[in-house]
Amino acid sequence: MYVCLCRGITDTQIRKAVQAGKTEFRQLKQSLEVGAQCGKCVRMAMEIIAVELDKV
Ligand code: FES
Repeated sequence: MYVCLCRGITDTQIRKAVQAGKTEFRQLKQSLEVGAQCGKCVRMAMEIIAVELDKV
């Protein structure tokens, strides 16, 4: 599912990035550019990070 429509970033891409060690939102923003435009996806991206970190 698309999380960031502005940049075309999916939840799968975010999960993989978190699993690869990008556990902070600013790291995701730097690498994937999620939230770099309108910012509407930031909350959902942070929720996905939290869920992924909870799994570990
Ligand atoms: Fe992600 Fe706009 S939806 S920056």
